[in-house]
Amino acid sequence: AAAGWMRPARLMKVFVTRRIPPEGRAVLAGAADCEVEQWDSDEPIPRKELERGVAGAHGLLCLLTEQVDRKLLDAAGANLKVISTMSVGVDHLALDEIKKRGIRVGYTPDVLTDATAELAVSLLLTTSRRLPEAIEEVKNGGWTAWKPLWMCGYGLTKSTVGIIGLGRIGQAIARRLKPFGVQRFLYSGRQPKPQEAAEFQAEFVPTSQLAAEADFIVVTCSLTPETKGLCNKDFFRLMKKTAVLVNISRWGDVVNQDDLYQALASGQIAAAGLDVTTPEPLPTSHPLLTLKNCVILPHIGSATHGTRNIMSLLAANNLLAGLRGEPMPSELKL
Ligand SMILES: *[C@@H]1O[C@H](CO)[C@@H](O)[C@H](O)[C@H]1NC(C)=O
Repeated sequence: AAAGWMRPARLMKVFVTRRIPPEGRAVLAGAADCEVEQWDSDEPIPRKELERGVAGAHGLLCLLTEQVDRKLLDAAGANLKVISTMSVGVDHLALDEIKKRGIRVGYTPDVLTDATAELAVSLLLTTSRRLPEAIEEVKNGGWTAWKPLWMCGYGLTKSTVGIIGLGRIGQAIARRLKPFGVQRFLYSGRQPKPQEAAEFQAEFVPTSQLAAEADFIVVTCSLTPETKGLCNKDFFRLMKKTAVLVNISRWGDVVNQDDLYQALASGQIAAAGLDVTTPEPLPTSHPLLTLKNCVILPHIGSATHGTRNIMSLLAANNLLAGLRGEPMPSELKL
């Protein structure tokens, strides 16, 4: 158009697989050296459209929902230089194949720490104070006379909180829980982190001890996925009957939901709050959904307007930097 003479002779094609938040969209729209094509919908792009859309693209901005496998890379062709995913997780990317082809990858770690920690605290309080159940009772007429033991849950004051994985998110959670009057923080992981733990006087203990002594257990994701197999199904057996488990991460991918169901249904543990499930979405017929003492959220850890905007901005900047051969703000080491 009018400023066409200022544009480089050849525009780089960028394919965006979803309608993304405004800040990221604006950055891409302002890139004079790119021609941006977008699947303009809130719903995931059908695979056929995806394969069509990436053909000839130099850059791909995608989400967790898109499988970037060999077939898709073939469909994209030799132009493809950069894949930027608007996510922390990279399970959907065939990294070996991507590396082989010399394609750079950007992702969005760190920026969702605060939102995820807020959600974890919300989920803990919601679960321990039985809010969904209580709200339901108001609606269904179960709220009658005041009763001393009705709708009682467990409070944080003078409690022991165990955090599995004292990474960035684990620390952000502990920092937020401390003012509630928590008496003791325990944590487990691959190795002690004395510097980080000092802020909460958190004690490094084996996971089995954490399970046995904590009133609240929060399973969080440390940035570098550490040891697998720290929790096995004996984990629930070790826990107090009055303990509440909050799981916001896939980390330690070993406790199966059937075991969790048994533990909750038999009263082996008091309650659980989950923001991650296997699979996602969890089928509405899943047994866990029949339990009053299980609160399940649809993986909304990072779902604040601010965080999603920042994620989109970072994903856009990763993509553009990669295309221009510059250092990316957050590049995945392959
Ligand atoms: C947390 O949930 C994930 C996903 O369902 C599961 O793989 C993991 O084992 C769970 N961890 C614990 C300690 O329950």
